[in-house]
Amino acid sequence: MKRITIAIDGHSSCGKSTMAKNLARELGYIYIDTGAMYRSVTLYAMQNGLIGAGHAIDTEGLRQAMPKIDITFKFNPETGRPDTYLNGKCVEKEIRTLEVSNNVSPIATLGFVREAMVRKQRLMGREGGVILDGRDIGTVVFPDAELKIFVTASDEIRARRRYDELIAKGEDVRYEDILKNVRERDYIDTHRDISPLTQAADAIVLDNSNLTIPEQQEWLLKLTKEAVSASE
Ligand code: DC
Repeated sequence: MKRITIAIDGHSSCGKSTMAKNLARELGYIYIDTGAMYRSVTLYAMQNGLIGAGHAIDTEGLRQAMPKIDITFKFNPETGRPDTYLNGKCVEKEIRTLEVSNNVSPIATLGFVREAMVRKQRLMGREGGVILDGRDIGTVVFPDAELKIFVTASDEIRARRRYDELIAKGEDVRYEDILKNVRERDYIDTHRDISPLTQAADAIVLDNSNLTIPEQQEWLLKLTKEAVSASE
């Protein structure tokens, strides 16, 4: 069976990574969480004094630091998904905090950051048999992907999901702050100059506001089988 490339783009916190992770496990594909890569660059910038008060970024400092930022993934059999490593250290927990979420969108607007991440994503996905989730996968990173999905859900539902997730991890957060962050990130992600979040013309839209995870998995598996047959 041909091993295709699957692009899953969409708004923040709409369950893209759960979909991608489960599908990758089912198919034996590699899963690349591209948001984790932008989050890792953000964490590096925060840890190295490159983000100041009011989210001001030391752009020149970050540009010079880019060659020193090494991001890799290692499969974690316990969680069934890849953990993200920044310069050899597992940062899976640190990159998911609200503090990183509050800083990541401005970092992801920077052209030199995007170029470096896209180059790495193309390299990791060059053999096919890969599922990438992000904002620009079907439009920029792999415009020839055999299957493109664009996922969305209402902002309140997305904020509620992220809130539940952070509370379960023991973070002290307020729902209102999460909702504000979801809306701010949507705005920045869709309005930036370089590779804004848009739906690829040939993407299939999934609004999962009222779907359970098994329902959306079934939907995705059916589409994947069709895309594999069409590409053979
Ligand atoms: O999917 P996520 O919430 O972990 O992504 C974090 C941020 O990274 C998000 O606000 C937008 C940015 N991002 C991007 O610009 N391009 C991607 N391919 C993936 C994420």
